[in-house]
Amino acid sequence: MRIKRWIATGAVAIATVGALNTLPASAGRPYNPADQSLRNLGLRHDLYIGTAVDMAALNDAADPRYRELVASQFSTVTAENVMKWESLEPTRGTYDWAPADELLAFAKQNNQRVRGHVLVWQNQLPGWLTTGVEDGSISTEQLRDILRNHITTVVKHFKGRIWQWDVVNEAVSDPWDSPSTLHYKGFWAQHLGPDYIADAFRWARAADPKALLFYNDYNIEAFGSGDPADDKTQFVYDMAKNLLAQRVPIDGVGSQGHLGTQYGNYDTLQVAAALKKFAGLGLATAFTEVDVRSQLTEAVRNGDSNEINPRLQASAANYSVLLQACLADRHCLSFTVWGFTDKHSWVPDWFGNEGMANIYDENYQPKRAYHLMKADLIYAGPPYVLPRIAQKPRR
Ligand code: G3I
Repeated sequence: MRIKRWIATGAVAIATVGALNTLPASAGRPYNPADQSLRNLGLRHDLYIGTAVDMAALNDAADPRYRELVASQFSTVTAENVMKWESLEPTRGTYDWAPADELLAFAKQNNQRVRGHVLVWQNQLPGWLTTGVEDGSISTEQLRDILRNHITTVVKHFKGRIWQWDVVNEAVSDPWDSPSTLHYKGFWAQHLGPDYIADAFRWARAADPKALLFYNDYNIEAFGSGDPADDKTQFVYDMAKNLLAQRVPIDGVGSQGHLGTQYGNYDTLQVAAALKKFAGLGLATAFTEVDVRSQLTEAVRNGDSNEINPRLQASAANYSVLLQACLADRHCLSFTVWGFTDKHSWVPDWFGNEGMANIYDENYQPKRAYHLMKADLIYAGPPYVLPRIAQKPRR
């Protein structure tokens, strides 16, 4: 009886979301009790479960399991790399839409929503742009025009097909940067000043009035001291509040969720409190890049279960903390993992001696983290977990 009521409540909210949005809705599929996939279990709460997609892996005919799992387990996808500026416009003025369009076609075929990643970021910029700025052949005035043109061209190209755009990514420094007082960092702030953030949201809105526009960053899972000089979550909160006060069309804040088992991290209540505080500004939230890595000690590499098991458990517990917090906040719209298998993960490439960050192992066996996510989705419900509240794009 109780379960029936959940399903019914979910179905009503799902119908509302569908009506507000012209995008293909995985939620259009009714919840099917026989289907224990993450995407289907997420439907009970109207929560979209997503993954970043590596296009090379998706197209690898020798690795069909990757494609099968992207389709069967997830209701939203994010391009891991192919929507970044260096991929879309490797040569000035010549756009290569093919890989991103291919992902969008895959998403449509599989009834998945798409998170657009990313419009403005200091990494993976094309060489012609960074070199042009360095050698002075691109002036500040021209750089601003180039950014406006990029946002407008890209958002218009994908118009109507993107649910959430990461408009600005990782604009805020970390305490280990210099100076250690938190500040706007990187290429764009350096050359255009921090006003590029408000501009970017306005240009994105003008190009697609219906997509939800997000600011996206890491290390903003929970509040710390409350001092924006050293608390990145507070800095981002103040930034969002300030943008809203200027009537900038920001609709959400994406918390990436790149965690490591060697750190203290957070508990569910701390993370839920942070999401609630952002929701208090009238913003949607989402976990956008979740993975929980571990150090690969010699013993781990040698298969020592005394070292492997605690890492698997700690990783699972951290996934669960973020997922439970998201479930608990009705404005948390999606939970995306940054790749789902240890076979295709940015972590070992980036950190060298860290890995085991994903919910499936290298042989596509679901890990403890996968099962815990599943349990969280199954055993959650009223009164603490209720269907999502759809976010309307801010004008
Ligand atoms: O495309 C080239 C390929 O031509 C070349 O042969 C190969 C050799 O190394 O490199 C390829 O480029 C790599 C690219 O991924 C595409 O695979 C880069 O070296 C590599 O650095 C790049 O890493 C990506 C990273 O962003 C770069 O910033 C990761 O795959 C991607 O997962 C990661 O994603 C970011 C999010 O966008 C933002 N938040 C943090 C997250 C993790 O760093």
